[in-house]
Amino acid sequence: MSVVGARPNFMKFASIIDAINRYNNSVHNSKFRIQHLLVHSGQHYDDSMSEAFFRDLGLPRPDIYLGVGSGTHAAQTADIMKRFEPVLLEHQPDVIIVVGDVNSTAACALVASKIQHGDSIQNSKLITHNSGVKRPLVAHVEAGLRSFDRTMPEEINRILTDAISDYLFTSEESGNQNLLCEGISRKKIFFVGNTMIDTLLKHREKAQQSKILEKLGLINLELKTENSNLIPYGVLTLHRPSNVDNKETFTNILEAIKEVTKHLPIIFLAHPRTVNRIKEFGFENYFDFRFQFLTPSPQSKAVRPNPSSPQPQSSKGVKSLASNLQPLACGLHCVEPLGYLDFLCLMSSAKLAITDSGGIQEETTILRIPCMTLRENTERPITTTQGTNVIVGTNTRKIVEECLSAFHTKKVS
Ligand code: UD1
Repeated sequence: MSVVGARPNFMKFASIIDAINRYNNSVHNSKFRIQHLLVHSGQHYDDSMSEAFFRDLGLPRPDIYLGVGSGTHAAQTADIMKRFEPVLLEHQPDVIIVVGDVNSTAACALVASKIQHGDSIQNSKLITHNSGVKRPLVAHVEAGLRSFDRTMPEEINRILTDAISDYLFTSEESGNQNLLCEGISRKKIFFVGNTMIDTLLKHREKAQQSKILEKLGLINLELKTENSNLIPYGVLTLHRPSNVDNKETFTNILEAIKEVTKHLPIIFLAHPRTVNRIKEFGFENYFDFRFQFLTPSPQSKAVRPNPSSPQPQSSKGVKSLASNLQPLACGLHCVEPLGYLDFLCLMSSAKLAITDSGGIQEETTILRIPCMTLRENTERPITTTQGTNVIVGTNTRKIVEECLSAFHTKKVS
């Protein structure tokens, strides 16, 4: 049984599900096939945060949808646990797989580590508690990452999930070291690489067929340079509570971005949390809303995905308000979150990514796009030592300096 909940989980699972399918196709005796159930907690529920990724990645529809929706950390985590427990008791899987560091990850790992399947279960693969009752194995993919910043909710989720997992699958060498330092047995640790990057490599070519660059006016048809008629642009994502919930920090970041946009247009993919803060703080003037932007309703409820609902095409969220789109001018252009393929296409051709996301640090590293991370630390140090990532923090001057220096440096080696 695999558990997904929030946007970054979907791409990490896509390649695991591919691997399960490949394995099952190679096994002739059905007795040895993996019976796989996909559980979606519903932590993310907007079409642009969830269903769009299922469509783009060809993920199967969840077998079980918990429909938890948003809430405080405690309420959301507790709600996931309460709804997941009966699911585990009913299906009694041998293994549960969780990925990453979101609330759904920690909540479901915790439930599985304490569940008691009862004596009637004979399956020898299950873990036996001291009391003799059995529980499933817990496997954590992307284990061992540490920012060493316990003010981050994700850091708490990582430490907790790793401490109670039976199999720890790590994506970079630092993860192995961190787990060993925390006293986790070497026998439980498997250095397997990065499943999110496997997904990126698989979809990279397909993403090039996306029409997102045209839709955003990033292709200048009158500009016929030797190599490309692409307008240089940057991409911005911003959603961490520490950046957007604090008015002063958010202002520092936006002042920096305003300066950077004097040199190149920046496309801002606005997370629902950030949209709410922009409205609350009255920051609309920083943004250009040239594109139709569908703001989420504050009351939007978690809804079970409807299998019969129409399957819209990628980039449906971006509708130009101008019929004959002029090439995009400098400025901070706000767009609702994109699906996987559109975003991959947009990121692949960008001159610069500015972000506070974890995954984008890794994706830009593999794409060799300079990445400016608006945080004081990273749990993915390999992206700074072997990749394109620079930790720039939230100081206005530092952000501007680093962004302009990256933009003016032509090629990333
Ligand atoms: C979560 C993860 C974070 C990850 C991010 C990716 C945790 C602790 N955080 O943060 O690690 O980087 O997902 O996006 O699990 N909302 C909607 N529609 C949605 C989802 C959220 O409107 O589909 C709004 C709600 O107002 C909600 C807020 O966004 O309260 C935050 O959502 P939540 O899932 O609590 O955390 P994220 O900030 O998305």
